[in-house]
This record gives sequence, C-alpha cells and structure tokens, in this order.
Amino acid sequence: MTDIGVIGGAGYVGIVTGVGLAALGHKVISMDLDQKRLAMLRDGKSAVYEDGLEPILDRLNEIGQISFTDDQSDTVRNSDAVFIAVGTPSLDDGAADLSAVIAVAEGLRDEIGKYTVIVVKSTVPVGTINVVTDILSQKLTEGEDFDVVSNPEFLREGSGLIDFFAPSRIIVGSSSERANAALREIYEPLLAGTTVVDVPWIDSSREIPYVETDATSAQLTKYAANAFLATRISFINEIAGISEKVGGNIGHIVEGLGLDPRIGPGYLQPGIGFGGPCLDKDLRALIMVAGENSYDPVMFNGVLQRNELQLRVVMKKITAAVGPSLYQKRIALLGLAFKEGTNDVRHSLSIRLYRLLRDQGASVVGHDVLAVDEVRELEPDFEVSEDVDGILNDSEVVVALNSEPSYAGIDWSGYGQVERSPYVIDTRGILDHDSLVASGIEFDVLGAVS
Ligand SMILES: NC(=O)c1ccc[n+]([C@@H]2O[C@H](COP(=O)([O-])OP(=O)(O)OC[C@H]3O[C@@H](n4cnc5c(N)ncnc54)[C@H](O)[C@@H]3O)[C@@H](O)[C@H]2O)c1
Repeated sequence: MTDIGVIGGAGYVGIVTGVGLAALGHKVISMDLDQKRLAMLRDGKSAVYEDGLEPILDRLNEIGQISFTDDQSDTVRNSDAVFIAVGTPSLDDGAADLSAVIAVAEGLRDEIGKYTVIVVKSTVPVGTINVVTDILSQKLTEGEDFDVVSNPEFLREGSGLIDFFAPSRIIVGSSSERANAALREIYEPLLAGTTVVDVPWIDSSREIPYVETDATSAQLTKYAANAFLATRISFINEIAGISEKVGGNIGHIVEGLGLDPRIGPGYLQPGIGFGGPCLDKDLRALIMVAGENSYDPVMFNGVLQRNELQLRVVMKKITAAVGPSLYQKRIALLGLAFKEGTNDVRHSLSIRLYRLLRDQGASVVGHDVLAVDEVRELEPDFEVSEDVDGILNDSEVVVALNSEPSYAGIDWSGYGQVERSPYVIDTRGILDHDSLVASGIEFDVLGAVS
C-alpha cells in the first residue's frame, strides 16, 4: 500500500480522490487551505455533496485511514505519491488559471525529500505537466527525485464515488516506467475490486479499462471528453430550436436519437445550456490551446456561441409570457445548482438567469433541493427556499431549469385553481404535462410546439 497525499483534498475532486484511495487501503493525507472544510471533514462531514460519501468518510476517519491537514510540507514528507486536485478556473480570456497548480509545484520543489510521484488530477492544458516538471527541476532531478504524471479525472458531480469505484476508464499519461509502475500499484486494488471498508459500487466482475499513454494525450483526452459532451448539449439545443419552428416534439426526437447505438442517450437533453465548473471552462481553455498552436477551432467556437444563445432563448420565453417589462414580475426558478444531484452553483446558468431577471427589476424566487445555502452565500439577496410549494404560490412565471427528479412529481392542480395561475416554462421536458393540462395551466416545453 502507498502513502498518498492529496492536495486540494477538500474540493469536489480532492475529497472523492482521497476517500476513494483510502478505501482502497492506501494511507491518505488530504491537504487543503480551506480550514472550514477541513474541520468538517475531520468530523465526518463534507461541504461538497456527494451521494454516499459521509458514511464511508466516517468509517475511514474511525480506522485512521485518512487524515486532514493544511500543512503541505508535512503531507509531502509523509507521501510516496502526491495527487494534485486544486482548481483550474477560467481566466477572463478563457485560458485555464494555473496559479494554484504552480503554487503547489513551487512548494513541492522545496519539500520533496525522497522519490515522489506527482500525479496531476486537475484538468490542465497540454504543456502543464512540462511546467510542473520544469518547476521541480529547478532543485530536483526528474526520474531520480520525482516524476510527474497526468491522470485526468472524469467524475460526474453527484455520482463522484460511483465514478471512482466503477470508472469508465483510468487514464495515466507518463513516459516514466517507474511512475507507471507506481500508478499501477496504486490502482491495483481498484482493478482487483478490493477495499478496506464496505463500498457498494465495487463490481469485481467488471474489467476496468486502464489506458497508459503519454502525458500530452492524457491531458488532451480530458479536454476532448468535455468538448464532446458540450457539443452534444449545443447540438440538441440546436435541434430543439429547429423543432420548435417546424412543430416537432423534442422529447420524442431525443428518444429516437438516443436509441441509435451509435449515438446513445447521454447528454442529449435540451435545456438552458451547459454551465457548471467544467464544460464551459474546459471548452474555453481548449479553444485557447488551439489558438496558441495556430489552429482555428471553428466547430468549438460554434458550440460555445450556441450555448451563449440558449440563455437568451429562455429569457425570450419569459418575456413573451409576461413582458415586455419584467419589472416586479414574480418569477420562480426551479433548480439552481448547475445540475440536479449536486450543491455546486459555480457558473450555474440558473444563477446567470437570476441576475439577468433581477437586473430588469423582476422579483425572482428560487428553489433547490441541495444548494440553498450555497446560493445564499453567492447571492444573499436572492430569495431561495427548499419548499417548492411556497415558491410556486403566487408566481407569474415558473421556469424549471434542471432535472431534479421531484419536479416531475409536482401536482399542479393546486396552482391552476388560484385567481392568477402561473405560466410554466419547462426547459428540460421533465414536468408532468398531463397534470399541467388538467389544471388549466398554460405551459411551454423547450423544443416542442406549444
Ligand atoms: N468538479 C468536477 O466535477 C470535476 C470533474 C473532473 C475534473 N475536475 C477538475 O479538477 C480540478 C478541481 O476541481 P474541483 O471542482 O474539485 O475544485 P474545487 O474548487 O472544489 O477544489 C479545489 C480545492 O483546492 C483547494 N486549494 C486551492 N489552492 C490550494 C493550495 N495551494 N493548496 C491546497 N489546496 C488548495 C481549495 O481550497 C479547494 O478545496 C479542476 O481542475 C477541475 O477542472 C473537476
């Protein structure tokens, strides 16, 4: 078993990586700068919501398999492998902000005292592995004191642990046989399906694809995956736009498309577009990398433009329902996290929609199952609640923005009877349309003729 440090260990990727590796039997030190998150984690609580995380964390804390600290040098001194999982947000020009990765690397340069494998989990543009290597090489010798490996993360927030224990693939990018051997040893229990605590998602009968490649290909594979997912979303939003014009039903079109085994159903739901912490930022970073390498990414520019348009499509529907002036119009937004099943509101398009409506003087209320605290922290003036009934009462427009399962179960009969029933905009096609019809409520489904 390996002694492993996870830097950025209290973030979405860091906590899943730390808990996952500890559950495989490795001794993990999770290091982060966020004191509040660290204190919670020591207590078995996570600020990051991941289904099934806390019971496993509790057990790992109990048996001393994982610990939490803010001391990077102590972490590095006691680790044979250090995973970097710090954030790489977008800069204003779309390039990835590598300042956290660089700060960690500068620390490592002074802290590494024995051969250590540095594993970059953060999503970083091609060339970053060389940047980290160059920083470490200022004091240390590559291959003797360290090797740097790209091991991109493909987890989906909300099902991060499933994706750790039953990953679609593990990709390791390195030209060092010593580092490759170390990574194989680290992932060996996962490939064999063995853990030191009970984990429900392990399926030892399934072979997990394990791909060894060079660092450039590994880094680019991550960007390619996110660019592809973003493309699917922009693609289906384009089809939804055409469908509305020609009188189609996007729900049926999506079903028909998804049944084609060459296409499949994933990431084909129309909606307000892709937001969140990854797809938009990674697509922008890929476009930057292409530009820096004298390549014009015509298609990806189109995907991004199509996505920006989609927010205006939803705004136009709201204005058509109660505009042209939105001043003091009561508008309810359902689903504030960037998607269902997470409390992550970073770059959520629902929050962008809230700001647009607020700036036009609308009185906006919002509902979310998991992210109410996070929204209050981000937008203290946004009136938000976990009580959907309170939100729907006396709203003039209701906009469903993510596929939170409980929205499908809303019984609209109570809202259709009131003096002024709301106009409902279903951007994801998830509401109970029969109930809306029976309640006499006017509604609009994105991508379907109303
Ligand atoms: N969130 C996702 O769904 C997801 C999926 C795949 C890949 N990624 C990538 O993984 C990386 C991390 O993303 P995230 O969503 O987990 O971010 P996050 O913001 O949730 O976590 C980053 C953590 O790093 C910590 N940190 C920052 N600087 C530090 C430093 N110098 N030392 C120690 N800790 C430090 C922060 O306090 C924070 O807890 C990004 O590159 C992202 O693109 C994210």
